[in-house]
Amino acid sequence: PQSILFVFFFPWGGRILRTMTGIHLLFTAALLSSCSRIAVQANSWWSLAMNPIQRPEMYIIGAQPLCSQLTGLSPGQRKLCQLYQDHMVYIGEGAKTGIKECQYQFRQRRWNCSTVDNTSVFGRVMQIGSRETAFTYAISAAGVVNAISRACREGDLSTCGCSRAARPKDLPRDWLWGGCGDNVEYGYRFAKEFVDAREREKNYPKGSEEHARTLMNLMNNEAGRRAVYNLADVACKCHGVSGSCSLKTCWLQLPDFRKVGDHLKEKYDSAAAMKINRRGKLELKNSRFNPPTADDLVYINLSPDYCLRDENTGSLGTQGRLCNKTSEGTDGCELMCCGRGYDQLKTVQVERCHCKFHWCCYVKCKKCTEIVDQFVCK
Ligand SMILES: *[C@@H]1O[C@H](CO)[C@@H](O)[C@H](O)[C@H]1NC(C)=O
Ligand SMILES: *[C@@H]1O[C@H](CO)[C@@H](O)[C@H](O)[C@H]1NC(C)=O
Ligand SMILES: *[C@@H]1O[C@H](CO)[C@@H](O)[C@H](O)[C@H]1NC(C)=O
Repeated sequence: PQSILFVFFFPWGGRILRTMTGIHLLFTAALLSSCSRIAVQANSWWSLAMNPIQRPEMYIIGAQPLCSQLTGLSPGQRKLCQLYQDHMVYIGEGAKTGIKECQYQFRQRRWNCSTVDNTSVFGRVMQIGSRETAFTYAISAAGVVNAISRACREGDLSTCGCSRAARPKDLPRDWLWGGCGDNVEYGYRFAKEFVDAREREKNYPKGSEEHARTLMNLMNNEAGRRAVYNLADVACKCHGVSGSCSLKTCWLQLPDFRKVGDHLKEKYDSAAAMKINRRGKLELKNSRFNPPTADDLVYINLSPDYCLRDENTGSLGTQGRLCNKTSEGTDGCELMCCGRGYDQLKTVQVERCHCKFHWCCYVKCKKCTEIVDQFVCK
């Protein structure tokens, strides 16, 4: 079923054909005009990533006004800020980690996860319940789990410490369990409280478009948190006479965040298209597919094609983007420039070359310049 989903939902493939017929464009326009009526708040806790909280000490002394100074928090999140002031800096860090990973994963695509300004962070593009929006919610929730779990382990938070996860059953009997592990249980729980607070406060009419969007956000937040939780693994360290490794101490360790990004990117490719039913539940648009699990991403609106700059949708367009002339993928000039063509630029690249090792101990290099062709979308 996974591979079938992949074929059906793989983003740009089918879209190009539809774009050529023009029907798709009309459809997008209709979709967007219906979307613009939905006031999804652009302002969000993500802005914590943009206004780094410089001094965590300030939170610890209980300087309450700081919580009211932070922009983008919902009322519930503001309350949590007052209760857990020392967590806020890690939420900001987590959001930033998530956004950076998003930009890495999407660097070769038309929508490249670029942020536009400080308060709305992603601009209006998040108002559409697209699969890009789904990914963004998931990866930033994952970033928060990651940052909080690690902060617990580092002893930076007053309400948590090392992981208390039970010893895995399959750990060899003579290995010790009990190094200080990343507290993913706490990270997961706190991120659920904090990140979901904004959605849970909303009280939209059951079955409405806004209600659908709230449910979508909640599901994607959950998928993001679970990615970190499920990918956390046992790490061990050897002890014993010079490298004999006769004794091992093991603990729970967060995954490398790149792994979380790769995992969620796969979930993006196989994301499930949903609609809201009369009972106010999200259900598959196409009931032939398997329903999504709690680990999967879901979306409710088709993506715009992100070809042109559009203030209404927040699409930045691809004019001026670098593309690869020989690639047939999403970074290829054909797809990236949406058929508008591209300009060829000659740029001078300076590289280190002819490096020689000198005794002892440094490396000396020459600077070589090379003229390379670059291609830029019209
Ligand atoms: C956004 O933040 C950066 C630095 O954090 C600042 O230089 C810039 O002026 C801000 N832009 C806006 C629109 O507030
Ligand atoms: C992402 O796209 C925007 C708009 O096309 C562009 O301004 C920006 O430089 C791109 N970012 C990267 C990292 O390529
Ligand atoms: C362009 O794409 C080709 C084919 O996918 C690849 O081999 C090459 O390394 C890419 N060039 C750059 C500059 O990324």
